Amino acid sequence: MRILVTGSTGHLGSALLNQLKGSDYEVKITSRNKPKGNEHFEWIYSDLFSGEGLEEAVKDVDVIIHSATSPNKHSKVVEVSGFNELLRRAKHIKHFIYPSIVGIDKIPFNYYKHKLEAEILLENSSIPHTVVRATQFHHFIDNLFLSRPVLKRYIVPGNFKCQSVDVNEFANHLIGIVDKGPQGKIQDFGGPDIVTIREMAELKIKINNENNKVLSISLPGKLFKAFSDGGNTNSTRKKGRVTFEDYLRSKIT
Ligand SMILES: NC(=O)c1ccc[n+]([C@@H]2O[C@H](COP(=O)([O-])OP(=O)(O)OC[C@H]3O[C@@H](n4cnc5c(N)ncnc54)[C@H](OP(=O)(O)O)[C@@H]3O)[C@@H](O)[C@H]2O)c1
Repeated sequence: MRILVTGSTGHLGSALLNQLKGSDYEVKITSRNKPKGNEHFEWIYSDLFSGEGLEEAVKDVDVIIHSATSPNKHSKVVEVSGFNELLRRAKHIKHFIYPSIVGIDKIPFNYYKHKLEAEILLENSSIPHTVVRATQFHHFIDNLFLSRPVLKRYIVPGNFKCQSVDVNEFANHLIGIVDKGPQGKIQDFGGPDIVTIREMAELKIKINNENNKVLSISLPGKLFKAFSDGGNTNSTRKKGRVTFEDYLRSKIT
């Protein structure tokens, strides 16, 4: 079985490659930049924005785990039209695995809208597939909200709810799906706890023994409300075991 991992330099892509290293699968990888330390995998340059290299990347593979994404730059092209181009060239494959995000159908955010369009394109295609949504990764929340205190304050949308999950556990879940074969849309993969960003900030301060404080801000609008209502969480799918606290402690050297 030959697997192509797209987005091989990304967080999820790297976690997948770490776990696929010791496996019996033949693995091919693709991204625009060449990932370091993965010389034993065949790497192909490809760009979902221009379409360059896609044909070569999908050639000769049985399974694709599509972990390439571009939330901030050319999101519509990369997530939707580039994705469609990838699907057009992947008619031969036996299983397309698409990691998506919990709440993309509830939260009015452009990137999420594009992810939802991609889910629908895949579901309407003839390609055997599995779509699985995860909640936000621990490092993602940490980097986005808790990495740059201003005047010793983490300024955060404190009421946002979050069910962050360990990226390695999600990667492991995706690899498990390879053997199970195409299952269509499956149940979400969420982290073990639902907490607010304020609580996450307070935990970080406590664990790292920081002098920082939390300044919680509130904004009007549907986007803020959707995250505050926990549209990005799923209390029935607490599948991850690694907590945000475990993640923070693992970073202490
Ligand atoms: N982050 C989260 O909290 C989270 C939660 C749930 C699900 N997910 C989903 O998990 C997947 C992976 O997310 P991630 O956080 O690992 O992303 P990431 O760290 O931002 O990595 C994105 C990857 O996509 C590649 N890429 C970007 N633009 C590209 C382009 N134009 N053509 C080809 N490749 C391109 C990047 O490599 P190059 O720049 O080298 O091309 C990189 O390898 C996404 O589908 C995301 O929606 C993420």
